Amino acid sequence: MKVAVLGMGSVGRGLLEMIEEKDLDLTVTAVADSRSALLDKDGIRIDELFLAKKEHGFCGDKSLSAMDVVTRGDYDALVEVTPTNATTGEPALTFMKTALERGKHVVTSNKGPIAREFAMLHQIASRNRVQIRYEATVGGAIPIMHALRQGLAGNRVLAIFGVLNGTCNYILTRMAKEGLTYEQALLEAREMGYAEADPTYDVKGIDAAIKLVILANVIGKKNVVLEDVEVTGIDMLTTDALRLAESEHCTIRLIAEAIPEKGIFRVAPRIIPQSHPLVVEGSLNAITIETDMAGEITLIGKGAGSVETASAIIGDLLFIRDFHARGH
Ligand SMILES: NC(=O)c1ccc[n+]([C@@H]2O[C@H](COP(=O)([O-])OP(=O)(O)OC[C@H]3O[C@@H](n4cnc5c(N)ncnc54)[C@H](OP(=O)(O)O)[C@@H]3O)[C@@H](O)[C@H]2O)c1
Repeated sequence: MKVAVLGMGSVGRGLLEMIEEKDLDLTVTAVADSRSALLDKDGIRIDELFLAKKEHGFCGDKSLSAMDVVTRGDYDALVEVTPTNATTGEPALTFMKTALERGKHVVTSNKGPIAREFAMLHQIASRNRVQIRYEATVGGAIPIMHALRQGLAGNRVLAIFGVLNGTCNYILTRMAKEGLTYEQALLEAREMGYAEADPTYDVKGIDAAIKLVILANVIGKKNVVLEDVEVTGIDMLTTDALRLAESEHCTIRLIAEAIPEKGIFRVAPRIIPQSHPLVVEGSLNAITIETDMAGEITLIGKGAGSVETASAIIGDLLFIRDFHARGH
């Protein structure tokens, strides 16, 4: 399977390293970063690519761009791992649409375009008889999309509850365990590399809400958009509130909740018993799925990270390859 990769940051590099290290039978025929691109239909040498990026700060030919990769590259699947834009989804949205229109599969960790244009991207994919897969957009390494689509196929999903933002979970864990103030815990999260320089999206609950939109669409409630989610972040939470919860053998977590039949789509800090399966520590993510046949299932794992996110992307790529190898 020939793969083109847009983005050579944390996720792109993790993916390329794993393709190089493991015998996955995936050939990288094109890559792009923000300033350059490289195309080679016979396969790019990944060790040389890393060296070039390290030496020059860009990966290939500066007269080529990501759009050249999308429109001219010789690939079966486009891996889109550029920064997310929750407002317009661009430029990733255009990259994805163009690749799908060319009859190429798309795999992405980029939640903005998927949450914005879920239905449209699926329509373009099905019109062109290709797949769009986005396991890495929610829960990092946790195979939540595979669980919902394959493992729990035939089930009715009654509700989903999730701890979907590792930064918030880290902050809440540190506030509860060490008695830190919100500001102290945020500073520590930044120093540990969990929080962005601008953590607004995380701490205001918007990142979790975007992921909830994707989950809501996957479980069948089509056309849920960010504006449908009621969002409260953790930025107003006090150490006293956490102390009070802890005194009752409870704690506080930022919970994203979808109950489609009741039209509930909400992200908010919630008081839950310390023994609850969603009470995970540090930057972990956890997702509980309530179904009619399988009952309740909780998945816990690393919600971010270079190789962890690559795991989800590779799962999608190999699923597509095997699906089409069966003659679909
Ligand atoms: N990091 C994680 O753990 C994680 C987990 C789940 C999902 N995600 C999502 O995965 C995506 C990538 O995350 P990341 O952490 O790898 O980001 P990152 O480290 O900031 O890397 C982004 C990469 O995209 C490149 N880029 C930027 N604009 C581009 C453009 N217009 N065309 C082509 N390439 C462009 C950058 O180029 P330069 O190298 O030239 O700057 C860089 O190589 C994001 O959408 C993120 O939300 C990340």
